[in-house]
Amino acid sequence: MKKAIYPGSFDPVTYGHLDIIQRAAKAFDELIVSVLDNKTKHPLFSVDERVNILKELTEELGNVRIGSYNGLLVDCCRKEGAHVIIRGLRAVTDFEYELQMAQTNRKLADNSVDTMFLTTDLRYAYLSSSTVKEVASFEGDISEFVPPMVAKLVYNKYNS
Ligand code: PNS
Repeated sequence: MKKAIYPGSFDPVTYGHLDIIQRAAKAFDELIVSVLDNKTKHPLFSVDERVNILKELTEELGNVRIGSYNGLLVDCCRKEGAHVIIRGLRAVTDFEYELQMAQTNRKLADNSVDTMFLTTDLRYAYLSSSTVKEVASFEGDISEFVPPMVAKLVYNKYNS
């Protein structure tokens, strides 16, 4: 069985992430979307909240499972028995960080884990979770960036 892990902060999940999930799910028998900590970021949503949002938005995709992991991504891969990590590339500016992560993860996993990149659909190439939060924090319109249920939850965070 060909398994892949799509890791990320998903804080919040955007239409760009959802597009990658749908496309990666077609290429593998099982796709595990895993919410992990990015230590350089302060999350708006708890891990449980992010997991629940992802579950609701992917419930129609039969081969997609949502999980979370507190630790290194390579340990999450080992636990799940996955040898492929999926990441989206929006632009050349993503490349340096992604290349470094991919090489580090491959080294940490003794070459048993490879990263595969999907190019982000051009409709979402400009999109990031950070931008979504910034726009929402000033009560701007995020309806083109995230599904309605996510938009509602994001605005609630800034209004509470
Ligand atoms: O959505 P993001 O914030 O770009 O995802 C980054 C993430 C969560 C995949 C990355 O920070 C990560 O893998 N965190 C887990 C800890 C880890 O393994 N760090 C070393 C990677 S080189």
